[in-house]
Amino acid sequence: MFLVFPDSAAIAAHLSARLQDIIRQDPQATLGLATGGTMEPVYARFVQDVRANGLDVSQINSFNLDEYVGLSAEHEQSYAYYMRQHLFGQLPFDAARLHLPNGLTKELEQHCQDYSAAIAASGGVALQLLGVGTNGHIGFNEPGTPFDSRTHVVALSERTRIDNSRFFDSMDEVPASAITMGIADILSAREIALVVTGEHKARTMLNYQEGGVTPELPFTALKQHANTHILLDEAAASLLD
Ligand code: F6R
Repeated sequence: MFLVFPDSAAIAAHLSARLQDIIRQDPQATLGLATGGTMEPVYARFVQDVRANGLDVSQINSFNLDEYVGLSAEHEQSYAYYMRQHLFGQLPFDAARLHLPNGLTKELEQHCQDYSAAIAASGGVALQLLGVGTNGHIGFNEPGTPFDSRTHVVALSERTRIDNSRFFDSMDEVPASAITMGIADILSAREIALVVTGEHKARTMLNYQEGGVTPELPFTALKQHANTHILLDEAAASLLD
């Protein structure tokens, strides 16, 4: 289902309200969280609203979609750092309940299995927040990723590493791989909110609307999920019927 909003601030207000509803209904709810520019206004609005109304967030559980391999949580480009900056460090969460893949683990395969199992053991994700790449990726699930994938390690393409190198001191520091929840993990959430903003994603959305369901455009897997809401700003929706 497409929901079109005037701008990213309106999407953020809507999602903040939805998150608060879920937490009011179940203070121990498990949330699936994403990083990236798209999510920044969402977290900023949620933090502002919860500071104003004092909602108790101390029992929330969360699982982030992905993390780079080899970066510590102190590294400014790690997703752990992003989450602290934008959300976890802003409200009185219980850090023990907040999960990201551990990019420093020596036991990568085991860690990935444990991560998928921990999501299921927490009761499953009540609401999964998602952004999408212009090539249709969700999490680090790039085109071609099987829809039955669980948490796994992804080798980053040379293109992605070059694109990301601007955030690092040198190309050598750009991680070669990442850990991501798989598409099957994402689809196991009871509700999914995909946020798509900006003109640069308009063609991606047109491809979604016109195409079928194909691993070549990973986010088309969401067409198989009965409770997915796609929240667009007018720019991202500009090529849709
Ligand atoms: C982030 C993630 C990515 C981003 C996507 C969009 O945790 O998993 O799939 O959601 O790359 O990124 P932005 O929002 O920066 O356009």
